[in-house]
Amino acid sequence: MDTVILKGKDVSSRIKENLAIQISNLKLKGIIPCLAAIIVGKNPASKLYVNSKAKTFKNMNCDSEIFTLDSDIDEKDLLFLIEKINNDTKFHGILVQLPLPKHLNEEKILEKINPEKDVDGFHPKNKGYLMQGNPSFIPCTPYGCLKILEYYNIDTNGKNIVVIGRSNIVGKPIASLLSQNTKYGNGTVTLCHSRTKNLSDFTKKADIIVAAVGIPHLINKDMIKDGVHIIDVGINRIDDKSKDKGYRVVGDVDFDNVLEKVSSITPVPGGVGVMTVTMLLSNTVKAAFNQIK
Ligand code: GUN
Repeated sequence: MDTVILKGKDVSSRIKENLAIQISNLKLKGIIPCLAAIIVGKNPASKLYVNSKAKTFKNMNCDSEIFTLDSDIDEKDLLFLIEKINNDTKFHGILVQLPLPKHLNEEKILEKINPEKDVDGFHPKNKGYLMQGNPSFIPCTPYGCLKILEYYNIDTNGKNIVVIGRSNIVGKPIASLLSQNTKYGNGTVTLCHSRTKNLSDFTKKADIIVAAVGIPHLINKDMIKDGVHIIDVGINRIDDKSKDKGYRVVGDVDFDNVLEKVSSITPVPGGVGVMTVTMLLSNTVKAAFNQIK
């Protein structure tokens, strides 16, 4: 089968071309889109993500400020910082990098973010709009998945779509978006997860699989039908002594094993991960426009 590799970089470049025009237009009005990224503790992966977000913003002539807080910070101090950023007109978007240390109440913290600056789309108000089919800020990773489907003209209308993973960040919103009555929706969506019995009964019937469960190489060729399209959201580290770092990053799908059988697939890395940062930029630019209206 002539498998198409769904390259996040190509999709991202197209989106960035458009964003560059919008960013120039904002500059003419004296506005530079600016993100406040809050990171609590020293989780190396979180630090890496936040730094890569800052780099992308800089490359696209946008601003960002990283607030690095101690892992034992008091909840009230974090809430106070969010309030301060909410009221600072310099910042158009706020992101609190997840996961947070256990002593912090994630829901309470996300609820504190001004919904107008909630470029992650994690505030309950924005989650509600999304469920209603009237999203304001679409969470960045699901948004990136939709943009990949759109760029490569992968029709979702009436298709059997299996989403694996029920996280608030990816699984739940993407399942909702793909089932809504929209161009890249109208799918018949089944939401599977780590407790699903006989997962392959579902995946074998899927025309499209979105894997976002965080289990390395969960999906192999015996679990899919010929010609399926696969969006692999997984970013998992597995030991690999042959690498300098001692590990490599793989998806939830065994890429090499399924390659011959699929119509298209996102690689890991190089697929969805690239898109997440681009959609964060897109949401921040949108927030900046909204805030001058
Ligand atoms: N942790 C993993 N993905 C994300 C994301 O998209 N946003 C935030 N804030 N934290 C994350």
